[in-house]
Amino acid sequence: MLIGVPLETAAGEKRVATVPEVVEKLIKLGFTVAVQGGAGEAANVSDEAYRAAGAEVVPTAAELWSKSDIVFKVRPPSAAEVGLMREGGMLVGFVWPAQNPELMQQLAAKRATVLAIDSLPRQLSRAQKMDALTSMAGVSGYRAVIEAANAFGRYFNGQVTAAGKIPPAKVFIAGAGVAGLAAIGTAAGLGAIVRANDTRAEVADQVVSLGGEFVKVDYEEEGSGGGGYAKVMSEGFQQAQRAMYAQQARECDIIITTALIPGKPAPKLITAEMVKSMKPGSVIVDMAAEQGGNCELTEPGQAVVKHGVTIIGYTDLASRLAKQSSTLYSNNLLRLTEELCKTKDGIVDVNMDDDAIRGLTVIKDGSITWPPPPLKLPAPVAKPAAAVAAPKAHGHGPGEPMSAKSLAIVFGVGALALWGVGLYAPASFLSHFTVFVLACFIGYMVIWNVTPSLHTPLMSVTNAISSIIAIGALVQIAPPLDGASADRPSALILGMAVLALVLTAVNMFGGFAVTRRMLAMFRK
Ligand code: NAI
Repeated sequence: MLIGVPLETAAGEKRVATVPEVVEKLIKLGFTVAVQGGAGEAANVSDEAYRAAGAEVVPTAAELWSKSDIVFKVRPPSAAEVGLMREGGMLVGFVWPAQNPELMQQLAAKRATVLAIDSLPRQLSRAQKMDALTSMAGVSGYRAVIEAANAFGRYFNGQVTAAGKIPPAKVFIAGAGVAGLAAIGTAAGLGAIVRANDTRAEVADQVVSLGGEFVKVDYEEEGSGGGGYAKVMSEGFQQAQRAMYAQQARECDIIITTALIPGKPAPKLITAEMVKSMKPGSVIVDMAAEQGGNCELTEPGQAVVKHGVTIIGYTDLASRLAKQSSTLYSNNLLRLTEELCKTKDGIVDVNMDDDAIRGLTVIKDGSITWPPPPLKLPAPVAKPAAAVAAPKAHGHGPGEPMSAKSLAIVFGVGALALWGVGLYAPASFLSHFTVFVLACFIGYMVIWNVTPSLHTPLMSVTNAISSIIAIGALVQIAPPLDGASADRPSALILGMAVLALVLTAVNMFGGFAVTRRMLAMFRK
Protein backbone atom coordinates (compact mmCIF):
# COMPACT_ATOMS: atom_id res chain seq x y z
CA MET A 1 0.00 0.00 0.00
CA LEU A 2 1.12 3.57 -0.60
CA ILE A 3 1.41 5.98 2.34
CA GLY A 4 1.14 9.65 1.32
CA VAL A 5 2.38 12.61 3.35
CA PRO A 6 0.93 15.98 2.24
CA LEU A 7 2.16 19.49 3.06
CA GLU A 8 0.15 20.73 6.07
CA THR A 9 -2.19 23.52 4.96
CA ALA A 10 -3.35 24.97 8.33
CA ALA A 11 -2.03 28.51 8.77
CA GLY A 12 1.34 28.55 10.55
CA GLU A 13 1.60 24.74 10.87
CA LYS A 14 5.24 23.76 10.45
CA ARG A 15 5.10 20.08 11.39
CA VAL A 16 5.14 17.18 8.94
CA ALA A 17 3.63 13.75 9.60
CA THR A 18 6.68 11.68 8.59
CA VAL A 19 10.44 12.30 8.66
CA PRO A 20 13.00 10.51 6.43
CA GLU A 21 14.23 8.16 9.21
CA VAL A 22 10.67 6.87 9.56
CA VAL A 23 10.21 6.64 5.77
CA GLU A 24 13.01 4.05 5.72
CA LYS A 25 11.27 2.01 8.44
CA LEU A 26 7.89 2.19 6.68
CA ILE A 27 9.53 0.85 3.51
CA LYS A 28 10.99 -2.02 5.56
CA LEU A 29 7.42 -2.81 6.66
CA GLY A 30 6.56 -3.30 3.00
CA PHE A 31 4.94 0.09 2.19
CA THR A 32 5.80 2.58 -0.53
CA VAL A 33 5.90 6.23 0.55
CA ALA A 34 5.11 9.43 -1.35
CA VAL A 35 5.69 12.92 0.04
CA GLN A 36 4.37 16.20 -1.35
CA GLY A 37 7.19 18.51 -2.46
CA GLY A 38 8.06 21.00 0.31
CA ALA A 39 6.08 19.07 2.97
CA GLY A 40 9.04 19.01 5.36
CA GLU A 41 10.57 22.38 4.52
CA ALA A 42 9.22 24.26 7.57
CA ALA A 43 10.57 21.48 9.79
CA ASN A 44 14.00 21.69 8.09
CA VAL A 45 13.55 18.45 6.15
CA SER A 46 14.36 18.75 2.44
CA ASP A 47 12.74 16.89 -0.45
CA GLU A 48 16.22 15.52 -1.15
CA ALA A 49 16.32 13.87 2.30
CA TYR A 50 12.97 12.18 1.60
CA ARG A 51 14.21 10.96 -1.79
CA ALA A 52 17.41 9.63 -0.20
CA ALA A 53 15.28 7.70 2.30
CA GLY A 54 13.40 6.04 -0.55
CA ALA A 55 10.25 8.17 -0.84
CA GLU A 56 8.81 9.47 -4.09
CA VAL A 57 8.37 13.26 -4.05
CA VAL A 58 5.20 14.35 -5.89
CA PRO A 59 4.62 17.97 -6.93
CA THR A 60 0.97 18.62 -6.01
CA ALA A 61 -1.48 17.89 -3.22
CA ALA A 62 -4.04 16.64 -5.77
CA GLU A 63 -1.65 13.98 -7.08
CA LEU A 64 -0.57 12.96 -3.59
CA TRP A 65 -4.09 12.56 -2.14
CA SER A 66 -5.42 10.72 -5.21
CA LYS A 67 -2.63 8.13 -5.34
CA SER A 68 -2.37 7.43 -1.58
CA ASP A 69 -4.05 4.40 -0.01
CA ILE A 70 -3.27 5.87 3.41
CA VAL A 71 -2.65 9.55 4.18
CA PHE A 72 -0.57 10.49 7.25
CA LYS A 73 -1.43 14.00 8.46
CA VAL A 74 -0.88 16.18 11.52
CA ARG A 75 -3.87 18.59 11.60
CA PRO A 76 -7.45 17.57 10.71
CA PRO A 77 -7.95 17.85 6.91
CA SER A 78 -9.79 20.85 5.43
CA ALA A 79 -12.96 20.35 3.37
CA ALA A 80 -10.85 20.90 0.22
CA GLU A 81 -8.43 18.18 1.28
CA VAL A 82 -11.29 15.73 1.95
CA GLY A 83 -12.45 16.55 -1.59
CA LEU A 84 -9.06 15.40 -2.92
CA MET A 85 -9.14 12.15 -0.94
CA ARG A 86 -9.69 8.91 -2.85
CA GLU A 87 -12.97 7.00 -2.26
CA GLY A 88 -12.48 4.33 0.42
CA GLY A 89 -9.07 5.76 1.39
CA MET A 90 -7.58 5.77 4.87
CA LEU A 91 -6.57 8.78 6.98
CA VAL A 92 -4.37 8.80 10.09
CA GLY A 93 -3.84 11.98 12.13
CA PHE A 94 -5.44 14.38 14.61
CA VAL A 95 -9.19 14.56 13.88
CA TRP A 96 -10.88 15.59 17.19
CA PRO A 97 -14.21 13.91 16.29
CA ALA A 98 -16.16 15.59 19.13
CA GLN A 99 -15.19 19.08 17.93
CA ASN A 100 -15.50 18.35 14.17
CA PRO A 101 -18.85 16.65 13.47
CA GLU A 102 -19.04 18.15 9.96
CA LEU A 103 -15.61 16.82 9.02
CA MET A 104 -16.68 13.38 10.27
CA GLN A 105 -19.70 13.46 7.94
CA GLN A 106 -17.54 14.52 4.97
CA LEU A 107 -15.05 11.71 5.64
CA ALA A 108 -17.85 9.15 6.08
CA ALA A 109 -19.33 10.26 2.73
CA LYS A 110 -15.95 9.36 1.17
CA ARG A 111 -16.34 5.82 2.63
CA ALA A 112 -13.04 6.50 4.37
CA THR A 113 -11.45 4.64 7.28
CA VAL A 114 -10.19 7.22 9.77
CA LEU A 115 -7.78 6.62 12.64
CA ALA A 116 -7.86 9.64 14.99
CA ILE A 117 -4.62 9.61 16.96
CA ASP A 118 -6.24 11.97 19.51
CA SER A 119 -8.81 9.27 20.36
CA LEU A 120 -6.22 6.65 21.34
CA PRO A 121 -7.17 5.03 24.68
CA ARG A 122 -4.22 6.45 26.63
CA GLN A 123 -5.06 4.30 29.69
CA LEU A 124 -3.71 1.20 27.94
CA SER A 125 -0.02 0.78 28.66
CA ARG A 126 0.40 -0.80 25.19
CA ALA A 127 -0.85 2.47 23.67
CA GLN A 128 1.90 4.62 25.18
CA LYS A 129 4.29 4.20 22.24
CA MET A 130 1.56 5.61 19.94
CA ASP A 131 0.50 8.43 22.29
CA ALA A 132 0.99 11.53 20.15
CA LEU A 133 -0.93 13.75 22.60
CA THR A 134 1.73 13.02 25.21
CA SER A 135 4.63 13.60 22.83
CA MET A 136 3.16 16.88 21.63
CA ALA A 137 2.34 18.08 25.16
CA GLY A 138 5.91 17.28 26.26
CA VAL A 139 7.40 19.33 23.42
CA SER A 140 4.91 22.15 24.12
CA GLY A 141 5.71 22.26 27.85
CA TYR A 142 9.40 22.63 26.97
CA ARG A 143 8.67 25.32 24.41
CA ALA A 144 6.42 27.21 26.85
CA VAL A 145 9.45 27.71 29.12
CA ILE A 146 11.60 28.81 26.18
CA GLU A 147 8.91 31.34 25.16
CA ALA A 148 8.78 32.59 28.76
CA ALA A 149 12.58 32.89 28.90
CA ASN A 150 12.53 34.83 25.64
CA ALA A 151 9.98 37.35 26.96
CA PHE A 152 11.55 37.59 30.45
CA GLY A 153 14.25 40.22 30.87
CA ARG A 154 16.48 38.27 33.28
CA TYR A 155 18.44 35.05 33.76
CA PHE A 156 16.61 32.00 35.09
CA ASN A 157 19.50 30.94 37.33
CA GLY A 158 20.91 32.98 40.18
CA GLN A 159 24.44 34.29 39.78
CA VAL A 160 27.01 36.15 41.81
CA THR A 161 29.12 38.24 39.44
CA ALA A 162 31.49 41.20 39.76
CA ALA A 163 28.63 43.29 38.40
CA GLY A 164 26.27 42.26 41.15
CA LYS A 165 24.17 39.46 42.62
CA ILE A 166 21.34 38.12 40.49
CA PRO A 167 18.51 36.22 42.23
CA PRO A 168 17.12 33.13 40.47
CA ALA A 169 13.79 33.52 38.67
CA LYS A 170 10.76 32.05 40.42
CA VAL A 171 8.53 29.99 38.14
CA PHE A 172 5.07 28.74 39.11
CA ILE A 173 3.46 25.96 37.07
CA ALA A 174 -0.31 25.46 37.36
CA GLY A 175 -1.26 21.89 36.43
CA ALA A 176 1.36 19.14 36.53
CA GLY A 177 0.13 16.84 33.75
CA VAL A 178 2.30 15.95 30.78
CA ALA A 179 2.94 19.53 29.62
CA GLY A 180 3.31 20.84 33.18
CA LEU A 181 5.89 18.20 34.15
CA ALA A 182 7.90 18.92 30.98
CA ALA A 183 7.81 22.64 31.87
CA ILE A 184 8.94 21.93 35.46
CA GLY A 185 11.93 19.86 34.25
CA THR A 186 12.94 22.50 31.69
CA ALA A 187 12.63 25.49 34.06
CA ALA A 188 14.51 23.64 36.83
CA GLY A 189 17.19 22.69 34.27
CA LEU A 190 17.66 26.39 33.46
CA GLY A 191 18.26 27.04 37.15
CA ALA A 192 14.98 28.68 38.22
CA ILE A 193 13.21 28.06 41.52
CA VAL A 194 10.19 26.06 40.39
CA ARG A 195 6.91 25.61 42.24
CA ALA A 196 3.89 23.72 40.97
CA ASN A 197 0.33 22.91 41.93
CA ASP A 198 -2.19 20.38 40.71
CA THR A 199 -5.55 19.24 42.04
CA ARG A 200 -4.32 15.62 41.82
CA ALA A 201 -2.18 15.19 44.93
CA GLU A 202 -0.55 12.04 43.51
CA VAL A 203 1.62 14.13 41.16
CA ALA A 204 3.46 15.78 44.09
CA ASP A 205 6.28 13.20 44.02
CA GLN A 206 6.74 13.64 40.26
CA VAL A 207 7.01 17.42 40.71
CA VAL A 208 9.71 16.96 43.36
CA SER A 209 11.62 14.37 41.31
CA LEU A 210 11.88 16.91 38.46
CA GLY A 211 13.37 19.56 40.72
CA GLY A 212 10.19 21.45 41.64
CA GLU A 213 8.39 22.13 44.91
CA PHE A 214 4.76 21.05 45.19
CA VAL A 215 2.60 23.82 46.67
CA LYS A 216 -0.51 22.41 48.35
CA VAL A 217 -3.90 24.10 48.52
CA ASP A 218 -4.91 24.45 52.16
CA TYR A 219 -8.13 22.42 51.72
CA GLU A 220 -8.66 18.65 51.91
CA GLU A 221 -10.34 17.27 48.78
CA GLU A 222 -9.53 14.34 46.46
CA GLY A 223 -8.82 15.86 43.02
CA SER A 224 -8.53 12.73 40.89
CA GLY A 225 -11.42 12.07 38.53
CA GLY A 226 -10.08 8.68 37.35
CA GLY A 227 -7.98 7.64 34.35
CA GLY A 228 -5.18 10.06 35.32
CA TYR A 229 -7.42 13.10 34.78
CA ALA A 230 -8.69 15.70 37.24
CA LYS A 231 -12.28 16.48 38.28
CA VAL A 232 -14.05 19.80 38.78
CA MET A 233 -13.35 20.87 42.37
CA SER A 234 -15.83 22.18 44.98
CA GLU A 235 -16.38 25.91 45.48
CA GLY A 236 -14.59 25.71 48.87
CA PHE A 237 -11.50 24.22 47.26
CA GLN A 238 -11.53 26.76 44.43
CA GLN A 239 -11.64 29.62 46.94
CA ALA A 240 -8.67 28.24 48.88
CA GLN A 241 -6.83 27.62 45.59
CA ARG A 242 -7.44 31.23 44.46
CA ALA A 243 -5.90 32.54 47.70
CA MET A 244 -2.78 30.39 47.15
CA TYR A 245 -2.49 31.37 43.47
CA ALA A 246 -2.83 35.06 44.41
CA GLN A 247 0.15 34.68 46.76
CA GLN A 248 2.20 32.87 44.08
CA ALA A 249 1.34 35.62 41.56
CA ARG A 250 2.77 38.23 43.95
CA GLU A 251 5.94 36.21 44.56
CA CYS A 252 6.75 34.60 41.19
CA ASP A 253 8.23 36.08 38.01
CA ILE A 254 6.82 33.55 35.56
CA ILE A 255 3.58 31.57 35.59
CA ILE A 256 2.96 28.74 33.15
CA THR A 257 -0.60 27.40 33.20
CA THR A 258 -1.52 23.99 31.83
CA ALA A 259 -4.62 23.14 33.89
CA LEU A 260 -7.29 21.24 32.00
CA ILE A 261 -10.02 18.67 32.49
CA PRO A 262 -10.75 16.95 29.15
CA GLY A 263 -14.07 18.01 27.63
CA LYS A 264 -14.47 21.01 29.97
CA PRO A 265 -13.56 24.68 29.46
CA ALA A 266 -10.20 25.51 31.04
CA PRO A 267 -10.56 26.56 34.72
CA LYS A 268 -9.91 30.27 35.24
CA LEU A 269 -7.10 30.22 37.77
CA ILE A 270 -5.32 33.54 37.19
CA THR A 271 -7.63 36.54 37.58
CA ALA A 272 -7.03 40.07 36.24
CA GLU A 273 -6.34 41.14 39.86
CA MET A 274 -3.57 38.53 40.16
CA VAL A 275 -2.00 39.75 36.89
CA LYS A 276 -2.04 43.32 38.26
CA SER A 277 -0.27 42.15 41.42
CA MET A 278 2.66 40.64 39.49
CA LYS A 279 6.00 42.44 39.23
CA PRO A 280 6.46 44.49 36.02
CA GLY A 281 8.29 42.41 33.40
CA SER A 282 6.73 39.15 34.62
CA VAL A 283 5.50 36.60 32.09
CA ILE A 284 2.48 34.29 31.90
CA VAL A 285 2.36 31.48 29.34
CA ASP A 286 -1.21 30.17 29.12
CA MET A 287 -1.02 26.77 27.47
CA ALA A 288 -4.77 26.24 27.81
CA ALA A 289 -5.45 29.30 25.58
CA GLU A 290 -7.24 27.19 22.96
CA GLN A 291 -9.76 25.90 25.54
CA GLY A 292 -10.53 29.44 26.77
CA GLY A 293 -7.38 29.97 28.84
CA ASN A 294 -6.47 29.58 32.52
CA CYS A 295 -5.88 33.34 32.74
CA GLU A 296 -8.70 35.87 32.38
CA LEU A 297 -6.61 38.21 30.22
CA THR A 298 -5.24 35.67 27.71
CA GLU A 299 -5.80 36.30 24.01
CA PRO A 300 -5.56 32.96 22.16
CA GLY A 301 -2.76 32.84 19.58
CA GLN A 302 -1.31 36.19 20.73
CA ALA A 303 1.37 37.55 23.02
CA VAL A 304 0.05 40.71 24.69
CA VAL A 305 1.32 43.00 27.44
CA LYS A 306 -1.24 43.87 30.14
CA HIS A 307 -0.47 45.68 33.41
CA GLY A 308 3.23 45.33 32.54
CA VAL A 309 2.96 41.52 32.29
CA THR A 310 3.54 39.66 29.00
CA ILE A 311 0.73 37.12 28.54
CA ILE A 312 1.51 34.51 25.89
CA GLY A 313 -1.44 32.52 24.55
CA TYR A 314 0.21 30.71 21.63
CA THR A 315 -1.75 27.68 20.49
CA ASP A 316 0.98 26.26 18.25
CA LEU A 317 3.76 25.57 20.74
CA ALA A 318 4.57 22.10 19.35
CA SER A 319 4.73 23.51 15.81
CA ARG A 320 7.25 26.11 17.05
CA LEU A 321 9.67 23.22 17.62
CA ALA A 322 8.74 21.60 14.31
CA LYS A 323 11.70 19.30 13.74
CA GLN A 324 11.46 17.79 17.23
CA SER A 325 7.69 17.40 17.26
CA SER A 326 7.62 15.99 13.69
CA THR A 327 10.20 13.37 14.66
CA LEU A 328 8.28 12.29 17.77
CA TYR A 329 4.93 12.37 15.95
CA SER A 330 6.17 10.27 13.05
CA ASN A 331 7.63 7.75 15.52
CA ASN A 332 4.16 7.49 17.14
CA LEU A 333 2.61 6.88 13.70
CA LEU A 334 5.30 4.29 12.90
CA ARG A 335 4.43 2.36 16.08
CA LEU A 336 0.77 2.51 15.09
CA THR A 337 1.61 1.22 11.59
CA GLU A 338 3.54 -1.67 13.14
CA GLU A 339 0.40 -2.58 15.11
CA LEU A 340 -1.70 -2.36 11.94
CA CYS A 341 0.71 -4.40 9.83
CA LYS A 342 2.02 -7.21 12.01
CA THR A 343 2.67 -9.31 8.90
CA LYS A 344 5.17 -6.69 7.57
CA ASP A 345 3.83 -7.08 4.05
CA GLY A 346 2.75 -3.48 3.44
CA ILE A 347 -0.97 -4.23 4.00
CA VAL A 348 -2.84 -2.82 6.99
CA ASP A 349 -5.46 -4.71 8.98
CA VAL A 350 -7.72 -2.49 11.10
CA ASN A 351 -8.51 -5.05 13.80
CA MET A 352 -11.59 -3.82 15.67
CA ASP A 353 -11.09 -6.53 18.33
CA ASP A 354 -7.90 -4.79 19.46
CA ASP A 355 -8.82 -2.26 22.20
CA ALA A 356 -6.21 0.31 21.14
CA ILE A 357 -7.10 0.16 17.43
CA ARG A 358 -10.84 0.12 18.20
CA GLY A 359 -10.49 3.25 20.34
CA LEU A 360 -8.83 5.35 17.66
CA THR A 361 -10.83 4.08 14.68
CA VAL A 362 -13.50 6.77 14.45
CA ILE A 363 -14.77 5.83 10.95
CA LYS A 364 -14.54 2.33 9.44
CA ASP A 365 -15.29 1.97 5.71
CA GLY A 366 -17.60 4.99 5.81
CA SER A 367 -19.48 4.09 9.05
CA ILE A 368 -18.91 6.35 12.00
CA THR A 369 -17.65 4.17 14.89
CA TRP A 370 -17.07 7.01 17.35
CA PRO A 371 -17.48 7.11 20.32
CA PRO A 372 -16.07 3.65 21.05
CA PRO A 373 -17.61 1.37 23.70
CA PRO A 374 -16.12 1.94 27.19
CA LEU A 375 -12.85 0.13 27.81
CA LYS A 376 -12.91 -2.91 30.07
CA LEU A 377 -10.10 -1.99 32.45
CA PRO A 378 -9.33 -4.01 35.61
CA ALA A 379 -11.35 -2.63 38.54
CA PRO A 380 -9.33 -0.51 40.99
CA VAL A 381 -8.54 -2.22 44.29
CA ALA A 382 -11.19 -1.13 46.83
CA LYS A 383 -10.12 0.18 50.22
CA PRO A 384 -10.98 -2.36 52.94
CA ALA A 385 -14.18 -1.25 54.65
CA ALA A 386 -12.81 -2.42 58.02
CA ALA A 387 -10.23 0.40 57.90
CA VAL A 388 -12.99 2.96 58.46
CA ALA A 389 -14.91 0.99 61.11
CA ALA A 390 -15.47 2.63 64.49
CA PRO A 391 -12.67 2.07 67.05
CA LYS A 392 -13.19 -0.83 69.44
CA ALA A 393 -13.90 -0.20 73.09
CA HIS A 394 -10.88 -2.27 74.16
CA GLY A 395 -7.50 -2.93 72.53
CA HIS A 396 -6.21 -1.12 69.44
CA GLY A 397 -6.47 -1.60 65.68
CA PRO A 398 -3.56 -1.98 63.29
CA GLY A 399 -1.64 1.27 62.83
CA GLU A 400 -3.23 2.94 65.89
CA PRO A 401 -0.81 3.99 68.64
CA MET A 402 -0.90 1.79 71.78
CA SER A 403 -2.81 3.17 74.72
CA ALA A 404 -0.81 3.96 77.91
CA LYS A 405 -2.47 0.99 79.65
CA SER A 406 -1.45 -1.54 76.95
CA LEU A 407 2.07 -0.11 76.96
CA ALA A 408 2.34 -0.53 80.74
CA ILE A 409 1.14 -4.17 80.48
CA VAL A 410 3.71 -4.97 77.72
CA PHE A 411 6.53 -3.39 79.78
CA GLY A 412 5.39 -5.16 82.97
CA VAL A 413 5.33 -8.58 81.26
CA GLY A 414 8.73 -7.88 79.68
CA ALA A 415 10.28 -6.84 82.99
CA LEU A 416 8.88 -9.96 84.74
CA ALA A 417 10.29 -12.21 81.99
CA LEU A 418 13.73 -10.59 82.34
CA TRP A 419 13.60 -10.97 86.15
CA GLY A 420 12.78 -14.69 85.68
CA VAL A 421 15.70 -15.11 83.29
CA GLY A 422 18.00 -13.31 85.78
CA LEU A 423 16.94 -15.65 88.61
CA TYR A 424 17.61 -18.94 86.87
CA ALA A 425 20.00 -18.41 83.90
CA PRO A 426 23.79 -18.89 84.28
CA ALA A 427 25.91 -15.71 84.61
CA SER A 428 27.70 -16.16 81.25
CA PHE A 429 24.33 -16.35 79.45
CA LEU A 430 23.15 -13.19 81.22
CA SER A 431 26.07 -11.08 80.01
CA HIS A 432 25.59 -12.25 76.40
CA PHE A 433 21.85 -11.73 76.67
CA THR A 434 22.28 -8.14 77.92
CA VAL A 435 24.59 -7.34 75.00
CA PHE A 436 22.10 -8.94 72.60
CA VAL A 437 19.11 -6.90 73.89
CA LEU A 438 21.11 -3.64 73.81
CA ALA A 439 22.42 -4.43 70.31
CA CYS A 440 18.85 -5.03 69.08
CA PHE A 441 17.72 -1.73 70.58
CA ILE A 442 20.64 0.34 69.23
CA GLY A 443 20.48 -1.40 65.83
CA TYR A 444 16.76 -0.62 65.56
CA MET A 445 17.27 3.03 66.52
CA VAL A 446 20.24 3.49 64.15
CA ILE A 447 18.56 1.89 61.13
CA TRP A 448 15.08 3.38 61.39
CA ASN A 449 16.40 6.87 62.11
CA VAL A 450 18.50 6.98 58.93
CA THR A 451 17.46 9.90 56.72
CA PRO A 452 17.40 8.55 53.15
CA SER A 453 19.92 10.55 51.10
CA LEU A 454 20.63 7.93 48.48
CA HIS A 455 18.36 7.55 45.50
CA THR A 456 16.01 5.13 47.25
CA PRO A 457 15.07 4.90 50.92
CA LEU A 458 15.45 1.09 50.66
CA MET A 459 19.09 1.48 49.63
CA SER A 460 19.74 3.84 52.54
CA VAL A 461 18.27 1.38 55.02
CA THR A 462 20.09 -1.67 53.61
CA ASN A 463 23.35 0.30 53.69
CA ALA A 464 22.70 1.15 57.34
CA ILE A 465 22.13 -2.55 58.10
CA SER A 466 25.30 -3.42 56.16
CA SER A 467 27.28 -0.87 58.19
CA ILE A 468 26.16 -2.46 61.46
CA ILE A 469 27.06 -5.94 60.18
CA ALA A 470 30.46 -4.58 59.08
CA ILE A 471 31.11 -3.11 62.57
CA GLY A 472 30.16 -6.43 64.21
CA ALA A 473 32.46 -8.35 61.87
CA LEU A 474 35.35 -5.90 62.50
CA VAL A 475 34.92 -6.30 66.28
CA GLN A 476 35.32 -10.07 65.86
CA ILE A 477 38.35 -9.81 63.57
CA ALA A 478 40.26 -7.04 65.41
CA PRO A 479 42.87 -8.28 67.97
CA PRO A 480 41.97 -7.53 71.63
CA LEU A 481 43.34 -4.17 72.84
CA ASP A 482 45.23 -5.67 75.83
CA GLY A 483 47.05 -8.19 73.61
CA ALA A 484 45.53 -11.23 75.39
CA SER A 485 45.03 -14.11 72.99
CA ALA A 486 42.92 -16.43 75.21
CA ASP A 487 39.59 -14.83 74.13
CA ARG A 488 40.27 -14.96 70.39
CA PRO A 489 37.20 -16.23 68.50
CA SER A 490 37.37 -19.63 66.82
CA ALA A 491 38.37 -20.06 63.19
CA LEU A 492 34.68 -20.63 62.30
CA ILE A 493 33.63 -17.29 63.83
CA LEU A 494 36.55 -15.49 62.17
CA GLY A 495 35.65 -17.06 58.82
CA MET A 496 32.01 -15.97 59.19
CA ALA A 497 33.11 -12.44 60.12
CA VAL A 498 35.32 -12.20 57.03
CA LEU A 499 32.48 -13.55 54.86
CA ALA A 500 30.07 -11.00 56.40
CA LEU A 501 32.55 -8.20 55.62
CA VAL A 502 32.91 -9.32 52.00
CA LEU A 503 29.14 -9.58 51.47
CA THR A 504 28.37 -6.19 53.04
CA ALA A 505 31.16 -4.62 50.94
CA VAL A 506 29.57 -6.08 47.80
CA ASN A 507 26.16 -4.74 48.85
CA MET A 508 27.42 -1.25 49.69
CA PHE A 509 29.85 -0.65 46.82
CA GLY A 510 27.49 -2.39 44.38
CA GLY A 511 24.71 -0.05 45.58
CA PHE A 512 26.88 3.01 44.99
CA ALA A 513 27.88 1.73 41.53
CA VAL A 514 24.20 1.23 40.59
CA THR A 515 23.36 4.71 41.92
CA ARG A 516 26.17 6.23 39.84
CA ARG A 517 24.92 4.49 36.71
CA MET A 518 21.34 5.63 37.33
CA LEU A 519 22.42 9.24 37.97
CA ALA A 520 24.58 9.17 34.82
CA MET A 521 21.43 8.42 32.83
CA PHE A 522 20.04 11.82 33.83
CA ARG A 523 23.27 13.76 33.28
CA LYS A 524 23.69 15.58 29.98
P1 NAI B 1 -2.99 16.86 31.14
O1 NAI B 1 -4.42 16.42 31.22
O2 NAI B 1 -1.92 15.84 31.15
O3 NAI B 1 -2.68 17.90 32.31
C1 NAI B 1 -3.59 18.83 32.79
C2 NAI B 1 -3.34 18.94 34.30
O4 NAI B 1 -4.13 19.98 34.83
C3 NAI B 1 -3.75 17.65 35.04
O5 NAI B 1 -2.64 17.18 35.78
C4 NAI B 1 -4.87 18.10 35.94
O6 NAI B 1 -4.91 17.40 37.16
C5 NAI B 1 -4.55 19.57 36.14
N1 NAI B 1 -5.69 20.38 36.55
C6 NAI B 1 -6.97 20.32 36.12
N2 NAI B 1 -7.71 21.25 36.74
C7 NAI B 1 -6.88 21.91 37.60
C8 NAI B 1 -7.07 22.97 38.50
N3 NAI B 1 -8.25 23.55 38.66
N4 NAI B 1 -6.00 23.38 39.21
C9 NAI B 1 -4.78 22.80 39.07
N5 NAI B 1 -4.55 21.80 38.20
C10 NAI B 1 -5.59 21.35 37.47
O7 NAI B 1 -2.88 17.75 29.85
P2 NAI B 1 -1.54 18.12 29.05
O8 NAI B 1 -1.38 17.17 27.95
O9 NAI B 1 -0.43 18.35 30.00
O10 NAI B 1 -1.95 19.52 28.40
C11 NAI B 1 -2.08 20.67 29.24
C12 NAI B 1 -2.70 21.83 28.46
O11 NAI B 1 -1.83 22.26 27.44
C13 NAI B 1 -4.01 21.48 27.76
O12 NAI B 1 -4.85 22.60 27.88
C14 NAI B 1 -3.61 21.27 26.33
O13 NAI B 1 -4.66 21.50 25.43
C15 NAI B 1 -2.56 22.34 26.24
N6 NAI B 1 -1.64 22.23 25.14
C16 NAI B 1 -1.36 23.40 24.50
C17 NAI B 1 -0.50 23.43 23.46
C18 NAI B 1 -0.22 24.75 22.84
O14 NAI B 1 0.37 24.81 21.78
N7 NAI B 1 -0.61 25.84 23.48
C19 NAI B 1 0.11 22.19 22.94
C20 NAI B 1 -0.15 21.00 23.72
C21 NAI B 1 -1.03 21.04 24.80
